[in-house]
Amino acid sequence: MASAVRAVSELVEEARLKFVQEFGEEPQLAACAPGRVNLIGEHTDYNDGFVMPMALPMVTVVVGKQNSGHDVCIVTLNEDADQPRRVDFNLQTDLVSGKPRWANYVKGVIHHYRAPPVPGFRAVIVSSVPLGGGLSSSASLEVAFYSFLQQIKPDDGNEVAKAIACQQGEHSHAGVPCGIMDQFVAVLGKKDHALLIDCRSMEAKPVPLLDTSLVILITNSNVKHSLSGSEYPTRRRQCEQAAVSLGKVSLREATLKELEEAKDRLDEVTYKRACHVIEEIQRTEQAAEALKSGAYKEVGKLMVESHNSLRDLYEVSCPELDELVAAALEVEGVFGSRMTGGGFGGCTVTLLQANAVDKTISHIKEQYSGNATFYITTPSEGAQALSFSS
Ligand code: GLA
Repeated sequence: MASAVRAVSELVEEARLKFVQEFGEEPQLAACAPGRVNLIGEHTDYNDGFVMPMALPMVTVVVGKQNSGHDVCIVTLNEDADQPRRVDFNLQTDLVSGKPRWANYVKGVIHHYRAPPVPGFRAVIVSSVPLGGGLSSSASLEVAFYSFLQQIKPDDGNEVAKAIACQQGEHSHAGVPCGIMDQFVAVLGKKDHALLIDCRSMEAKPVPLLDTSLVILITNSNVKHSLSGSEYPTRRRQCEQAAVSLGKVSLREATLKELEEAKDRLDEVTYKRACHVIEEIQRTEQAAEALKSGAYKEVGKLMVESHNSLRDLYEVSCPELDELVAAALEVEGVFGSRMTGGGFGGCTVTLLQANAVDKTISHIKEQYSGNATFYITTPSEGAQALSFSS
């Protein structure tokens, strides 16, 4: 009933065949990077707070070969990408953003690559991360591409700097002022673990997720509201204004007590946004502790609090996500459920007992007014160089 995730080897082979068909020769290099699901810590990364995502078995794969000269040709096999699906550009004259939009992520990464100049190349992209589904298909593309470039022309191998370069590419070329969570976990994700990332110090602690009696279920609402693009930068600005009003560098430095004391000086919306962020940072640290000690009910309770706060205080949920969460919580064996990612559509993440998976999926299907897709996922590795199997 849940969708199967395509094997990486199958994706590599599909991209290799396309490369041969398109360019009449074999690709020599390949790399991949995963999508992510965030267990808790939403809209806290750009506030210097904690997040706790894990890398997914869904990945973006890039295969290719270096060229002489400065010309680049890239083909995407992603059917949800905007047209045209083949782009040609010159690295010295043509690295500006434009159409198609998917190529902007690649151009941004090339622009911020940490061992310039990048030589010309040809590449094919294929991905099993649903595009625009809130599972970070863009960060997986950026990081996969960066990892591909590392094989053509190695940088110093600093992984945090790699994540930051990819984030900068998204800011400058895709125009999305995202935080660091998605790129960080796409680079540093660890099999069988979630990562508790401190977005202020840029340090991450692995949190084991090995218990086979526990399942992480992703439910894609298959809706994306148009608000998702415009509201994200607004939220970021509101948080920055809240921090300034509280006399802090970021909301990470603020306490609830300080927020309450400043309540009269803040407008209602700013107060609500700041309240979500300060409480969510605390919840994330608590959830990491609870997960480590196997206190799944506690983790689930924190997840539900997170969802309610994103709905009521941060106002980034939508009726479809609320429906999915409510339906999941009606099933015995479900510890917790919440929206995950930026909001206004995309996915929910549900923590539940393995033996409750089937009935949970059936129940959500019955209750949901839309058409949901389900993925049972396990924490996977971050970006990797790949080889072609003979
Ligand atoms: C998007 C951004 C992330 C993060 C989440 C919300 O996924 O890319 O940096 O801010 O939204 O937690």
